[in-house]
Amino acid sequence: MVEYVNKKEKIMITKDGPYIAFGNLPLDKQIIGIDEDNDSDRWIKGEIVSVGESCALCRCGKSGNKPFCDGTHGIVGFDGTETASKKLHKDQSQVMDGPDLELYDAVDFCSEARFCHRGGGTWELTRHSDDSKSKKLAIQEACGCPSGRLVLFDKKMGKFIEPKFEKSLSLVEDPQLKVSGPIWVKGGVIVESSDGTFYEVRNRQTLCRCGKSENKPFCDGTHIKAGFNDGDKSLK
Ligand code: FES
Repeated sequence: MVEYVNKKEKIMITKDGPYIAFGNLPLDKQIIGIDEDNDSDRWIKGEIVSVGESCALCRCGKSGNKPFCDGTHGIVGFDGTETASKKLHKDQSQVMDGPDLELYDAVDFCSEARFCHRGGGTWELTRHSDDSKSKKLAIQEACGCPSGRLVLFDKKMGKFIEPKFEKSLSLVEDPQLKVSGPIWVKGGVIVESSDGTFYEVRNRQTLCRCGKSENKPFCDGTHIKAGFNDGDKSLK
């Protein structure tokens, strides 16, 4: 754990307050794109949000200056208690075995981005992963999953399959459902708990910014039910 402390790029969770992002992490908006069947199939790059060496990002959902914290969390009495497990993703996963691929599925991380629906769904595609088309689509879908709930293991290559990301942050926007989603944390940025311990460092994770997740600090899709909207123009 100690080796994370001096790394530059880090998100520190404050008790009942914002996320503090350190290390000049780039921040942009990423918009969920859909196909003709209304299934999520691509990420559309939105505007770049200018941040400095460090910034405080709202996690209570109530700031008047989203995505930044404006202190409102103190006024509304935000309870940001972290309830997520610190176990490794693989130890929180159910593993589904297919012929060429294994699917690691840790449902508590689901941010409801719906990249796993096409072609009968990632589970069905994994089951038929000896078929090259099914395998390719299963990989596209699992790699599209922003939260990293779904991770595929390639049995022939003997390794997990991950998209390549720079260390960066994105604000997810979901125009199909007219809601704003979580903060997408990419490229292995450290997430430090308010108690000074660390969550598993992963290539992709999603952090709650509506304030209502039952799996804080991670998103559990509750922003959809909550109708969370940060005012992004893609939602109009
Ligand atoms: S966390 Fe500070 S205003 Fe939301």
